[in-house]
Amino acid sequence: MSDRTVSNQLTDDERGLEAALRPQSLQEYVGQSRMKDSLEICIEAAKRRGEALDHAIFYGPPGLGKTTIAHIIAREMGSAIRSTSGLVLSHAGDLAAILTNLQERDVLFIDEIHRLPASVEEALYPAMEDYQLDLVVGQGASTRTVKLELPRFTLVGATTRAGALTSPLRDRFGLVHRLEFYSPQELTSIVTRSAGLLNIPIDEAGAAEIARRARGTPRIVNRLIKRIRDYAEIKAGGRITRQVAQDALVWLAVDAAGLDEMDRRILLTVMEKFNGGPVGVDSLAAAVQEDRGTLEDVYEPYLIQAGFLERTGRGRQATRLAFDHFKKQKDLLSLSGDDTSVTTP
Ligand SMILES: Nc1ncnc2c1ncn2[C@@H]1O[C@H](COP(=O)(O)OP(=O)(O)OP(=O)(O)O)[C@@H](O)[C@H]1O
Ligand SMILES: [Mg+2]
Repeated sequence: MSDRTVSNQLTDDERGLEAALRPQSLQEYVGQSRMKDSLEICIEAAKRRGEALDHAIFYGPPGLGKTTIAHIIAREMGSAIRSTSGLVLSHAGDLAAILTNLQERDVLFIDEIHRLPASVEEALYPAMEDYQLDLVVGQGASTRTVKLELPRFTLVGATTRAGALTSPLRDRFGLVHRLEFYSPQELTSIVTRSAGLLNIPIDEAGAAEIARRARGTPRIVNRLIKRIRDYAEIKAGGRITRQVAQDALVWLAVDAAGLDEMDRRILLTVMEKFNGGPVGVDSLAAAVQEDRGTLEDVYEPYLIQAGFLERTGRGRQATRLAFDHFKKQKDLLSLSGDDTSVTTP
């Protein structure tokens, strides 16, 4: 149960919930203030000039609001948004079909843009730079290239794997923003906002408790609220207070710091298999059976930001906080499948 509850990945049955809770405007979008300030100015300037917004790319771990901000940009621009993903766009022809159907100033959102095949990525370069597309038509001896003029559109890209972007692609984005983990205060206001939209009675301390366990991630906030509401309705008369939130989180087997299964696996591997580290990133990646780039871009950022893991010149090292955390957890939770027999070095 805990795996699903605190995972930052989106599951299929959550799409409806996400859509219902997704902020619709920059004003409603909590946190990321530097990014919002910059976007606000760029959007206003583009609108005044009647131009398309510069191409923009957003990167950062799952669930921090990349897709949300893409939709908000289109809305603030008063434009339509067309969404696709680097996994789906497998042929340059598919890209041509989408691009030629856009209107001036529309937003083309490409999720997981680091997954685009090289041929499609190369076709994108002139489209982004000159609003032109070189399309190869015909077969064999009659093959020729036609140049298509495209409407002036805005490409919005999102990726969890900034390290996997090629530099020619990255360089073609005028706006590049990294999404940060949210502070407890920001997460608390997201809890309050979501609870309000879902008509869930909650007090401030209850909201703060959920925020503290949400791994810096709005998606996890929304998931926890939904699960805790069920608990509150059945066990506590419906209202979420700090005590109700804490009891529900024990019932949901959510880690006291909101760490998910992979977070725990990484930390326990460093602590037990490598004696707390330092361990080189390649050895760690092999030990947790994840590729190095995903480990670095998707999993490590939160562990580092939360103070459980350090990147040193000689590799990754578990902190005192990590050892203390697992010692406490051992008493609180039985983490099925995990070996939690941690000894402080
Ligand atoms: N700044 C924010 N303020 C309020 N709610 C937010 C914010 N950012 C995200 N959310 C909530 O979190 C949910 C997940 O955000 P979103 O789908 O945009 O994440 P993502 O970065 O695109 O994740 P992924 O990498 O998995 O695609 C949204 O549906 C929304 O309800
Ligand atoms: Mg997304």
